[in-house]
Amino acid sequence: MTSSDMNYLTVALPKGKLFAKAAELLGRIGYTADDLSEKSRKLVLTNEEKKVRFIITKTADLPTYVEYGAADVGIIGKDVLLEEERDVYELLDLGFGRCRLMVAVPRAMKREKLSDYAHMRVATKYPKVAEKFFYQQGIQVEIIKLNGSIELAPMVGLAELIVDIVETGTTLKENQLDEIAPIEEATARFIANRVSFKMKFDRIQAMVEGLRALLQEEGKQ
Ligand code: PRP
Repeated sequence: MTSSDMNYLTVALPKGKLFAKAAELLGRIGYTADDLSEKSRKLVLTNEEKKVRFIITKTADLPTYVEYGAADVGIIGKDVLLEEERDVYELLDLGFGRCRLMVAVPRAMKREKLSDYAHMRVATKYPKVAEKFFYQQGIQVEIIKLNGSIELAPMVGLAELIVDIVETGTTLKENQLDEIAPIEEATARFIANRVSFKMKFDRIQAMVEGLRALLQEEGKQ
């Protein structure tokens, strides 16, 4: 199966926080498949009637599937796009899944200015974003890549700082961490493979317009 199969449109959805809303929005504009659920053991779900295939990927891998054309389109957070730096078209800001990438520190370790943290260690799932941010600030730090539960790192002395996404702020609060510097706001984006966008323009454009109309209805844009 490749998305170069002109008969099908392959849509990538990420496991995790964005899945439910992404599947719901697509469903409302007529793109769905039987048993389309994050918990599905099947990783490819096909709707033969609509000629749509869904693939369910690990969040960080989704832009890779789209860049290489294994999926024609996908829905993914801007935070992941910033980190993965994949060559894809970003066609629409879907407005949901709003969060912010930020630098945080244990309250007890808080210092006056960001430069006071020079030469310290920063744990993150977003090493490229973190590296770029501190470089732009002219502050040298050591970046430690982790794959999750980032808040644990400063609690056990693996790092002094973290760079992570904050949505409600609950995780930071529960772990006595304070935000010290915002990096970027992020929301879910509708993305497309560059070749697919040309070859399957009508279908992809119809999806974009359908989603845009839905968002307008919801008063989000
Ligand atoms: C993300 C992020 C924070 C949390 C923030 O983790 O890394 O831990 O959500 O959300 P909040 O501000 O609403 O508390 P996720 O649940 O994706 O899991 P992870 O820690 O394994 O990456």
